[in-house]
Amino acid sequence: MQLSDGFPKGFKYLPGYFSSEEQKELIDTLRHLIKEAPLFTPVMPRTAKPFSVRMSNLGALGWVSDKGGYRYQPLHPESGQAWPDIPEVLLRLWNKVGDCSAAPEACLVNYYAETAKMGMHQDRDEKTFEAPVVSVSLGDTAMFRLGGVKRGGPTQSLKLNSGDVVVLGGESRLCYHGIDRILGGSSSLLKDGGRLNLTLRRISPF
Ligand code: SIN
Ligand code: MN
Repeated sequence: MQLSDGFPKGFKYLPGYFSSEEQKELIDTLRHLIKEAPLFTPVMPRTAKPFSVRMSNLGALGWVSDKGGYRYQPLHPESGQAWPDIPEVLLRLWNKVGDCSAAPEACLVNYYAETAKMGMHQDRDEKTFEAPVVSVSLGDTAMFRLGGVKRGGPTQSLKLNSGDVVVLGGESRLCYHGIDRILGGSSSLLKDGGRLNLTLRRISPF
C-alpha cells in the first residue's frame, strides 16, 4: 500500500514494507556490518555538542559530522577503514521504490536509544538532489515530523513503525524532517531496544 494523500508530491509512505521475517534477516545482516564499522557518536560542527543518535555508514561514502563540518567521506572516522558494502536487500529496495537510474552511494545507519531524537533539518550535503532519500525504520516506533521545503512552515507528524519505508523524492527531496521522539518498548526486534534508521542516498550527479 502506498499512501500519498496529504503528503508533499514525491513523498512516499510505505507502511509494513518489510515483513517481520525480513526485518529479522536485515537486523542479522546489520549486526555483522556494525561489527565491521562500529557506531560512533558524531558531534555538531563548531560547538562539538554530541548528537543523541549514534551512527555508522555502509557504501562507498559515509556521512559524518565533526568540528570541521558535515561531509561524506570514504573512511570510518575512528577505524580509518572503508565502510562495508550496502547489502543487496537495500539495493533492491532502492531499485523498487527510488525511481532513480543511478545506484545509491551511501547508507547512513542511525541508532536511536529511547531518549534520542533528531532536530528538523534538510538532507542537503549531497551534490545532486535528483536522486531520492530512501529510509527504512527498524525497532521501536518513531514520531517522524515532516515539513515543507521552507524552514518554519506547517508540519505533520507520522508514526514510523518497524519495517516501514519512506521516500523523500521529487518535490519532497528537500523537505525538512526530524524525529521528535522514540516510543520506547514498542518493538522487540532489537535485543537492547531502541531504533535503527537506514537512509540510502546518492551523492554524485549522474
Ligand atoms: C535522518 O533524517 O537522517 C533520519 C530520519 C529518521 O531517523 O527517520
Ligand atoms: Mn535527514
